Amino acid sequence: MNSFHIPVLLKEVLHYLISKKGGGVYIDCTLGGGGHSKAILKRIYPDGLLIGIDQDIEAIKTARKELNNYLDRAILVKENFKNLEEIISDLKVNAVSGILFDLGVSSHQLRERERGFSFREDGHLDMRMDLTQKFNASTLINNYTEEELIRIFEKYGEERFSKRIARLIVLERQRNPINTTKQLADLVIRALPKAKKRGRWRIHPATRVFQAIRIEVNQELDVLEKSLNQAIKVLEDKGRICVISYHSLEDRIVKNVFKKAEKEKIAQQNYGLKIITKKPIRASQEEIKRNPGARSAKLRVAEKVEILKNSNAKR
Ligand SMILES: C[S@@+](CC[C@H](N)C(=O)[O-])C[C@H]1O[C@@H](n2cnc3c(N)ncnc32)[C@H](O)[C@@H]1O
Repeated sequence: MNSFHIPVLLKEVLHYLISKKGGGVYIDCTLGGGGHSKAILKRIYPDGLLIGIDQDIEAIKTARKELNNYLDRAILVKENFKNLEEIISDLKVNAVSGILFDLGVSSHQLRERERGFSFREDGHLDMRMDLTQKFNASTLINNYTEEELIRIFEKYGEERFSKRIARLIVLERQRNPINTTKQLADLVIRALPKAKKRGRWRIHPATRVFQAIRIEVNQELDVLEKSLNQAIKVLEDKGRICVISYHSLEDRIVKNVFKKAEKEKIAQQNYGLKIITKKPIRASQEEIKRNPGARSAKLRVAEKVEILKNSNAKR
């Protein structure tokens, strides 16, 4: 296990994802520290192939070390998974047995001060997963209009005090640019009504605002639906898709894409999905104790079903 990130629901992912005996091509769309990928490779080595994708170069570097003993059967790609179809086509792969998405950020990204994801560490307000991207959290906080700030805090953070927080941000940044995670976290607390400022918080008051900014900076929800549909398309018949999400906004998208693909399979295309997990799988108490990051994880699994193209022609 590496200290970069402890893989969540690992046993469950292996159980559902790998349906083949020996071989197969598996894609880990969110390589991170390579925890899931290493376990997949151990199962499919030496006949199978793993393609690992991450938009964070730090993740690719770490995973390359972690997967050191298996690199002859692994291809690591620094890319956004929104380009999944293109990545697969460039690699000339045409039968994919399983695809994993373990969404969100890694513990490493959260822990590293200078990545600016966490209100627990004081760092530059950054939050980019892809370090080559120009747009970051401080650009957002210092340039979005008050209305835009309210919109993202409400939509991506489901934050009750969006208006108060946005107002204070706009007032504050006229005097001083808001460039650090601590500045923003303190400001969120200052914006709360008096009664909420005091007392014990169940979660830190800045949690939702930080989540909303992260989602907006990385366009996390916008790319998800498109990428899931691409993943379903590139899977082979009976190939599996496993998605681990960490908040309700992500989980809702996964659930809806799966349901739509299940319903529309005959009407629209020559393929669809069979949903394997009617209810999402959650981490056990024992796993949560070992790894509190698993507390909010939900795993959904579906299987590709191909419908014979010439089933009409036969009649
Ligand atoms: C929860 S971590 C994955 C951890 C990994 N399963 C492990 O065992 O170490 C999520 C990773 O996905 C990456 N990621 C998130 N959205 C992405 C996207 N749209 N394209 C590529 N990588 C993405 C992040 O950079 C991060 O490294």
